[in-house]
Amino acid sequence: MAKLLTGLKPTGEFTLGNYIGAIVPLVKMQDEYDEVYLFVADLHALTIYQDPKELRERIRKFIAMYIACGVNPTKVTIYLQSENPYIPAISWLLECTTQFGEASRMIQFKEKSKQNTNFSVGLFTYPVLMAADILYCDTDYVPVGIDQKQHVELARDVAERFNHKYGETFVLPQPYIAKAGTKIKDLKDPTKKMSKSEENPQGVITMFDTKEEITKKIMRATTDSEMNVCFDEENKPGISNLLNIASVLSGQEITDIEKEFVGKNYGEFKAYVAEIVACKLEKIQTKYEALLKGNELDRILDEGIQKSIALAQAKYEEMKEKMGIVR
Ligand code: TYM
Repeated sequence: MAKLLTGLKPTGEFTLGNYIGAIVPLVKMQDEYDEVYLFVADLHALTIYQDPKELRERIRKFIAMYIACGVNPTKVTIYLQSENPYIPAISWLLECTTQFGEASRMIQFKEKSKQNTNFSVGLFTYPVLMAADILYCDTDYVPVGIDQKQHVELARDVAERFNHKYGETFVLPQPYIAKAGTKIKDLKDPTKKMSKSEENPQGVITMFDTKEEITKKIMRATTDSEMNVCFDEENKPGISNLLNIASVLSGQEITDIEKEFVGKNYGEFKAYVAEIVACKLEKIQTKYEALLKGNELDRILDEGIQKSIALAQAKYEEMKEKMGIVR
């Protein structure tokens, strides 16, 4: 009865990086697992101020985008994290099982707290809420990009400690990192990850970009001064990133793409990558528009949250019982 779960935080636009890092592996694996969960991590979004009106719109857009990307709502339990009151309750019980030192070692916390000295307490406890997301339904695998790997490992450590202190309660989860999608890089600065909150939008492809925008961004992507389309992440991060993107979206092996471009220039290669990305996103966007107009989304979310609440409530009661907070 293997279970798969992942979530995306609705801050900024849904990027090609999110799609390749989290959604593509989930779509590929959705039929192989007994149970699959996918949610919008809207509580996590609040760790950094969000405009309420924009956030509300984005949450709905994310759900429509999940399904447009090929997530099958009859197989996958889809829900909003904030509609399950037991998840923050479980998070509190886990906070009391997490050490301050281990939470302080989280790279994302260190980076984000450096960017703004007035950061919230929520930014610090963020990975514990993420542990609650993962542990409440006994998840085995968590498809994520490499930037979230440390958080999934923390969830595992916290689960192990809880099991040790209070008795077997949680399944120990593992991150599932798809090889090609580990980290899609910013097109302008291919040493950094493509990120929704990036200040330079020219380096980021969102799932809502038009063909013209995609082509412009890819044609202007930073590469190198050679004329050789070959995969070498260290010395040719820009070209390697484009090869990764083209390979995941077309299903071709990187070595086959390299062969196709022997003796050709970067302009031709970029035009080819742009065509693959635009073609893929165009199909997704057509489905997305239809979903946003219909009323199917609410039905899907209503069903999803019921299942999620039932599981989380049972886990919460079990935890409380084991921890001794019962009448
Ligand atoms: P978030 O919203 O930052 O990112 C969502 C998913 O997309 C992956 N990702 C990328 N993968 C490859 N290349 C990139 N450039 C790239 N950018 C983002 C992320 O690794 C992630 O898998 N904390 C999580 C949300 C979350 C969650 C969870 C995930 C909350 N609870 C429980 C899994 C399980 C986050 O902020 O992801």
